[in-house]
Amino acid sequence: MRAHEAGALHGDIGSRGPAWLRPPADVNALVPALWPRNVARGGDGVLAVAGLGVRDIAADFGTPVYVLDEDDLRSRCRDFRTGFDGVDVYYAGKAFLCRAVVRMIAEEGLHLDVCTGGELATALSAGMPPERIGFHGNNKSLRELTRALDAGVGRIILDSFDEIDRLTALARERGVRPRVMIRVTVGVEAHTHEFIATAHEDQKFGFSLAGGAAAEAAFRVLDDGVLELRGLHSHIGSQIFDASGFEVSARRVLGLQAQIRDARGVELPELDLGGGFGIAYTTQDDPAAPQDLAKRLRRIVESECAAERLAVPHLSIEPGRAIVGPAVFTLYEVGTVKDVDGIRTYVSVDGGMSDNIRTALYDASYSATLASRASAAEPMLARVVGKHCESGDIVVKDEFLPADVQPGDLVAVPGTGAYCRSMASNYNHVPRPPVVAVRDGRARLIVRRETEEDLLALDVG
Ligand SMILES: Cc1ncc(COP(=O)(O)O)c(C=O)c1O
Repeated sequence: MRAHEAGALHGDIGSRGPAWLRPPADVNALVPALWPRNVARGGDGVLAVAGLGVRDIAADFGTPVYVLDEDDLRSRCRDFRTGFDGVDVYYAGKAFLCRAVVRMIAEEGLHLDVCTGGELATALSAGMPPERIGFHGNNKSLRELTRALDAGVGRIILDSFDEIDRLTALARERGVRPRVMIRVTVGVEAHTHEFIATAHEDQKFGFSLAGGAAAEAAFRVLDDGVLELRGLHSHIGSQIFDASGFEVSARRVLGLQAQIRDARGVELPELDLGGGFGIAYTTQDDPAAPQDLAKRLRRIVESECAAERLAVPHLSIEPGRAIVGPAVFTLYEVGTVKDVDGIRTYVSVDGGMSDNIRTALYDASYSATLASRASAAEPMLARVVGKHCESGDIVVKDEFLPADVQPGDLVAVPGTGAYCRSMASNYNHVPRPPVVAVRDGRARLIVRRETEEDLLALDVG
């Protein structure tokens, strides 16, 4: 698929854009599903979040900048909490984690999933109650596990036999009985609109169901008795729109639950169905509301449990993207506009693949709008690119921007809350942008901009 080392998009030439992308009737109009809930264009034509104009944000914090609509994030936490009533909702911190966000999700009653010592340290330093933290990862070090035990995290999701041995030894040493789950690889892989159910599972995460490793792991933990096995866990992928992948995975994992009951007489009390709920990056995406997702998942679990004559276990889920993704947009300043004759117009902004690697890494699609003013110009198909020395440095592959877009304009890209700042790099020694939370017309810096001094401070040679 990747024919060119610069990325999948490098050879993709043509000025019409994808078939689904239509010239908008009004190039200034916002598609509500793509934007944080408190974003609107003001009477002056300037994009504003919770009443604060982006020109002011750019003047105070510079660009690029990630702008978080705090009430949007909080409302999505509440949507999941109320929609998934009675289900523990673990926010997947890998999507984006900083202390302010930890506090927000804690205040909104969510749990937190971390997958490294750094994420755990961030959560603990922000005062996240340890019993509401779940610890993931396919290669947790002895140090990380020790720290998790010492902190008293609520559950550790076991991912390998080595880890079972490691954690068992640590728990024995300390005389504690940590709560654990077994991550099961169910042979379902779901990405965007499709899922594939395969017989064997060629990936690094979890214990294979088909190969028998998952059952063996459960028996080992139960027979040993040192760790408290709470349940099974499965996460099938990301940006999922179709519940049928969850259906196959629930069927398979509950089949294992029944096998464990039959072999050991134990019904595990919990089940985690993972995260991966899709969001709208473009007008092509149509995500389900949390309460609809909840209904579907509950129905699936109830019917599979009935088929296996199992009690319905206490459920948990781990959404990351669906909580933080739509709550953030990235604000960039345009530096150059280049019309490559007969092919397309390149609008270069002052960030790029260092603040959003998803386009280059996953061929992800995004949207954009001219944010610092409204325009009366015709829509023009543009490609928003970054400032990095890489032709695959694309932020938005195809979008209609006004034909008079020019250097100094601000462009906003929505849907950048998840896996953008958290995957940001210093490629080309570009300092990583700040994160600014806006609420009730006021902006608050929650992650400061990296500086060249920060970069040089690490360079001790
Ligand atoms: C185990 C697990 N849970 C939850 C998530 C969160 O996924 P998403 O942000 O797509 O909801 C991931 C993402 O990779 C994951 O690996």
